[in-house]
Formats: sequence, structure tokens, C-alpha cells
Amino acid sequence: MAETASSIVVKHPDAEAFVASLLEASGVPTKNAKIVAWGLVQADLRGVESHGINRIPSYLARTRNGVLDPKAEPTITQVTPVVAQVDGNNGFGFPAAHAAMETAISMAQTFGIGMVSVKHSNHFGMSAWIVRQAVDAGMMSLVFTNSSPALPVWGGKSQLMGVSPIACGAPGGENSIPFILDMAPSVAARGKIHKALRRGEKIPKGWALDEEGKPTDDPERALKGVMLPMGGPKGSALAIMMDVFSGVLSGSAFAGGVTSPYDMSAPGDVGHFIVALKPDLFMGLDEFRQRMDVLYQRVVGSDKMEGVDRIYFPGEIEQLTEERRIREGIPFVQAEIDALNAEAARLGVEKIRQVR
Ligand SMILES: NC(=O)c1ccc[n+]([C@@H]2O[C@H](COP(=O)([O-])OP(=O)(O)OC[C@H]3O[C@@H](n4cnc5c(N)ncnc54)[C@H](O)[C@@H]3O)[C@@H](O)[C@H]2O)c1
Repeated sequence: MAETASSIVVKHPDAEAFVASLLEASGVPTKNAKIVAWGLVQADLRGVESHGINRIPSYLARTRNGVLDPKAEPTITQVTPVVAQVDGNNGFGFPAAHAAMETAISMAQTFGIGMVSVKHSNHFGMSAWIVRQAVDAGMMSLVFTNSSPALPVWGGKSQLMGVSPIACGAPGGENSIPFILDMAPSVAARGKIHKALRRGEKIPKGWALDEEGKPTDDPERALKGVMLPMGGPKGSALAIMMDVFSGVLSGSAFAGGVTSPYDMSAPGDVGHFIVALKPDLFMGLDEFRQRMDVLYQRVVGSDKMEGVDRIYFPGEIEQLTEERRIREGIPFVQAEIDALNAEAARLGVEKIRQVR
């Protein structure tokens, strides 16, 4: 399926280089700028535009307002041979999460498992890029984070828990793709409402309530109200679970204390929880991979309900989008490109390179 012909298209290496140049001009060390750019562009490639390079203007506003330290480097403390703690030192969430997964992978390579808690971090965008980091190293993983209040607890009416994504992954076999689950515990991620607002679009009723507690299709009203949890009390419980593992355990903010990435008044103080696990702990790697092949084939080959053309494995739709966008480029709307180029003009770096 081709992307809409009217879109502006940017090739992913150009998007990455552009974002890295904005970040470096804002004081982010080159290595960290590349990690942030890679994580954001991964989201655009996978069709998760709500967490792509359009986040840059709000991220840079945080550095200008002094609530996010662009120069910060994450520091790592080894707690036990299989447990480490990362302090994000109020830098970008991406290098903190990347360092955490790198450390978890290294421990898992030696001991089978590595678990890392991250504190004093910031928004790390789409969780799937961190799961992907593990998959690329041949590891299974859990990637949890907490986030700013957006969701009521079940029975409540005001924002308390974050729309905090739950993500996990496992490498696939020769005849399957990796399993990559990355989902917010709400009916839809809040970033999708920001994206609709940016693009002048409506949202489906059933995603959010407005300030008066009424269902709304207006993204502006929805952002003033609350996101609806998926599966009622179960979605609310999953959001609390993300806060137990990422907030309470880590020493970061919790219980409604995380600051929104769009709030310029205070550091985010986001917490994450990251685990890497070797897939060949209980059998040989070949057998594990063959078993993933069986699972994949059974899932996608399952009998289809009426109206369904194809059954996908978790992460498969995003992988297909990525394959297409690597070839064809990433589509953007003019308002998004204008906002990015305004940052470029302010920082004195070159505009984003467009294919059309
Ligand atoms: N960092 C943060 O604080 C934060 C907060 C909220 C959301 N997010 C990000 O927002 C993104 C979007 O979250 P979401 O919950 O809206 O995602 P989503 O509903 O689009 O997808 C959730 C999961 O379901 C799978 N899926 C979707 N449709 C499918 C289908 N037809 N068949 C099989 N599997 C299918 C996807 O592969 C994915 O793993 C995520 O990447 C998440 O990390 C980040």
C-alpha cells in the first residue's frame, strides 16, 4: 500500500541527520544526539508518528526552559551481578534507556538475565525501539516506563496514572518475525491525540472524555479531559503496574508525580524498568527459534473472522510499515515540517531534506 501522494516525504537517514543536528546545536553530545534521533526516526518508520520527530519542538523547548539538561550523561551503578541502576541525571530519556538496555544485555550475555532500573529520566518516546535494541542483540526483553498523569484509576474521574506503555519482545526464527508488543494501557496512546491536533483531525469517540466527563471527538477537549483505560479496571491496573515497577521501585517520581513532556515547569523525573533475557536458557537457541516459528505460523495462520483479510503477529504491521518507509520515505504534513524547520532556523542549522 502506497502512502498518500499529497504528503511531504523525507528519507529516514535525512530525518535522522536533521534531528541529530538540531540536538547537537542545542548542546546534546553527539553520541546521545544520534541515539535520540534514531529512537524518534524508528517511530516514524514504524508508523508510530505520535512518538516520532515531531516531538522535537517540545523536547527542545524543555532544554531552553532549563527543565531538561541536554548535556547530561546517564550514570550506571552495578547493584548485583545481574542488577544495575541508571540515573538519567535529567537528560533525555533515550540515552538513559539505551544505556539501561545495553547494560541489561551485557549482564544477560554472561548470566542469562539482566535487570536495570532507571531514575530521574525523561520521556523516551516509543518503547519498541528499546525492545528492538534487545532483539537485535538476540535477547528477549521487558521495557516498562511510567509517565505523566493522563488516565483516571478505575472509578476515578481525574488524571492520576500515566498512559504508560507496556512493551516486550523476543527474537523470531528463520520463518517468523520478532515478537514486539508495545501498547499503552489506554484505548489509544495520548500522543495520537496530539498528532490529531497537529494535523487538524478529529479523534474517534471512545478514546477520551472531555473536562466535563463526556465522550469527545475533539482532540483539544480530549487533552483537557482524561484518556480512557483499555478494558476498564484492567487497563487502569496495568497503568498502576507500570508505576510500581518504573516509579516506586526506581526512586523516580510516582503516583501522579511525573511531569508531562509538554509541561515546561519542572523536570520529568520519569522512571523505567528494563529486563533482558537470553532465549536459550532452557533449551538450545535453534529449538527456541523453531518454537517461535511454530507460534508465528499458528497465529498468522489462524482461522479468520468475517471481514478479516490477514492476521498479524504483534509488531508485524509496524515492521511492514518500516520496510515500506525505508524504501519510499516517511510522509509528513506541511505544518509538521514547518515546525521542524522553525527549530532549524532558530538554531542556525540546515532545513530538513525532503524528497518531495
Ligand atoms: N513514552 C511514553 O510515555 C509513551 C506513552 C504512551 C504511549 N507511548 C507509545 O505510543 C505507541 C502507541 O501505543 P498504542 O497502544 O496506541 O499502540 P497500538 O494500539 O497501535 O498497538 C499496540 C500493539 O498492538 C499490536 N497491534 C495493533 N494492531 C494489531 C493488529 N491488527 N494485529 C495484531 N497486532 C496488532 C501492535 O503491533 C502493538 O504491539 C507505543 O509505541 C508506545 O510506546 C509512549
